Amino acid sequence: MKLKKFFSLVATAALSISVLAACGDDSSTSEVSFRLAHNQPENHPIHESLTAFAEADKAGVKVEVFPNGTLGTEREVIELVQTGALDMAKVSAAALESFNDDFAILSLPYVFESQEHYYNVMDNSKSIQTIYENSKEIGFVPITWYDSGQRSIYTVDKKVESPADMKGLKIRVQESQTSIAMIEAMGGSPTPMSYGEVYTGLQQGLIDGAENNETALTTGKHGEVAKAYTYTEHQYSPDILIVSTNAWDKLSDEQKDALVKAAKESTESHKTIWAEAVKKSVEDAEALGVKFYTIDKTPYIEAASVLHEEFTKKGDKEKQYFDEFQSLK
Ligand code: GCU
Repeated sequence: MKLKKFFSLVATAALSISVLAACGDDSSTSEVSFRLAHNQPENHPIHESLTAFAEADKAGVKVEVFPNGTLGTEREVIELVQTGALDMAKVSAAALESFNDDFAILSLPYVFESQEHYYNVMDNSKSIQTIYENSKEIGFVPITWYDSGQRSIYTVDKKVESPADMKGLKIRVQESQTSIAMIEAMGGSPTPMSYGEVYTGLQQGLIDGAENNETALTTGKHGEVAKAYTYTEHQYSPDILIVSTNAWDKLSDEQKDALVKAAKESTESHKTIWAEAVKKSVEDAEALGVKFYTIDKTPYIEAASVLHEEFTKKGDKEKQYFDEFQSLK
């Protein structure tokens, strides 16, 4: 090692030690650095909102954001968070269902009747709080949610007006049992895969289409291949910000409060950022040649209602969650 580099390393180490010493044992003033992973590119609205959260003052909790799925698929990063190898992740509620069954309610098709209903549930529901709290024992603490819009079906070239039009179409879904059952009920053939695989899947003809919000067409580039977006608007599957229980337990109460406060602030500002991004995505996708079709959703709503019945029949807890959601309309 060159002498200069050696001295610079010694100096850095000494500096870190002095910072740590200055922090002392008082956990409320110790600095911690968290890594936060998500699977979208830097030009996606969620990256903007997570960056704002990372930059906010959080009582010494520093956050570094790793976009593009570089730390793994959603399933993989949740596993890393559970073991404590990763501190934070932003994932879809649908991905969390494989780890905590209760999250299934957020993927039920047509469980929210409007954006107002969706926001009211996500911001005020006691069931959501319970689901957040009961996740702690399995390794993660959800601290806020982000609007990820409404999901609709898009295919390479076919408008899908009713479940009959979906017959034989291989539609990529998220890795969630509810999403698989949903596409079956809606008449298609569900193909679960991670988000990062969808573009190639469409390009190589492994799938005929997918279902997502409009940003997938542009920031995800799916609109380069899929040209027919039908507004089935079947799912509002929110994004959820999770902290590893391991990392959470190391924070002081002041830091936990600061982290949650900054996260909730970013949830609020994200609502506007999201609305603008969707508008822009539609324009950009149209420029790519994507056609948007508005349809009468009734046949899909009727076909998907079986999932509501199955969910409420699972048990008293599920029925209570469902009824509370309905009461917040
Ligand atoms: C949305 C969601 C992502 C998710 C993706 C998917 O974009 O915000 O978290 O990975 O859908 O369909 O997999």
